[in-house]
Amino acid sequence: MTLANSNDVEINFAKLMSDPDVLFAVELAQRAGQLLADRPETLAIETKTSDTDVVTHMDQMAEELIVSAIELGKPDDGLLGEEGAHKISKSGRQWVIDPIDGTINYLYELPHWCVSIALVEEETQAGIVGVVYAPKLDSLFVARSGLGAFRKSANRITQLAVSSETRLSHSLLGTGFGYSAKRRAHQAEILTHILPNVRDIRRLGSCALDLCLVAAAELDAYFERGVKPWDHSAGSLIVQEANGQVSGLRGHLAGEEMIVAANKTVLPELVAILELQNADKGD
Ligand code: IPD
Ligand code: CA
Ligand code: CA
Repeated sequence: MTLANSNDVEINFAKLMSDPDVLFAVELAQRAGQLLADRPETLAIETKTSDTDVVTHMDQMAEELIVSAIELGKPDDGLLGEEGAHKISKSGRQWVIDPIDGTINYLYELPHWCVSIALVEEETQAGIVGVVYAPKLDSLFVARSGLGAFRKSANRITQLAVSSETRLSHSLLGTGFGYSAKRRAHQAEILTHILPNVRDIRRLGSCALDLCLVAAAELDAYFERGVKPWDHSAGSLIVQEANGQVSGLRGHLAGEEMIVAANKTVLPELVAILELQNADKGD
C-alpha cells in the first residue's frame, strides 16, 4: 500500500535520508549486500545449533565489514551481531546486526535474503533506525523512529503502510520455523489451529523480510516463536513506522517467546488464538 502523493513521499524520504544514522546504516547495508550478492562459486559452510542451522563464510565476512565500519564511525555505540559481535555501549545506543537473514535461501540461491541493521536504545531495545536491504529483490526498506517507513525499489520510493484488512479469516500470514526438530514439531502443531482461521500461510525464510512485507501490506500479519533481536529489530521498527503493531503474547514485548506483527485490528485476534494454543510455551 502506498501513502501520500509522490512529491510528499520524495520529500519525506529525503528528510529521513538526511539523518546521519540513517545514511550510515543504509550505506553499510548496501556495501554488505553488494559483497554478498557477488558470491563466490563455492561457500565454506559450518553448522551451528543443529545440522540444518548453517553459517557460511559470507555471513562472517559481511558481519566483519559492518562491525569494523561501526567501530570506526560510531566508536561509543554498542554492538550485537548474530555471528558473534558483542560490545557494551558507552552511548546508550546499540547496533543490532544480522549479516544475512535468510541464510538457507542464500545457500540455495533463492533471492529472498537480506542484510538487517538496526540502531536501538540499548536499555529498552526501542528502535531508532531500521534498515533491511535485499539486493536480489532490489529492495531497500528504511525507517527512523517518528519519520515513517519507506521502500526504494527500481529507483521508485514508496511510503509504507500496513494492510487495512480487518478480518483474520481473510489475512495472509507469514511465519517461520526454528532449527531444532522438537521446536518445529510444536510449531507444526500450532499451525493446525491457525490454518483453518486464516486466508493462507507463507514461509518465505527471512524474519526481517516478513516484517517488511507486513509493513508494505504484502502480508497482513506475521508471527514466529524463537526469533532473536538481530532477526526482528530492524523489521519491527519498519512495521511500527508503517502504522502497524508488534508485540508478544500475554502483554509481553515481542521477543524470543513470540513475535506477532499486524495492523491494530488483526493483531489482537491473532494474539488471542496464539495465546489459547500456548504458542509461546514449551519447545
Ligand atoms: C532465520 C530466518 C527465518 C526464521 C528463523 C531465523 P537466519 O534467520 O529469519 O525466516 O524462521 O527463525 O533464525 O538463520 O537465516 O539468519
Ligand atoms: Ca536471522
Ligand atoms: Ca543470519
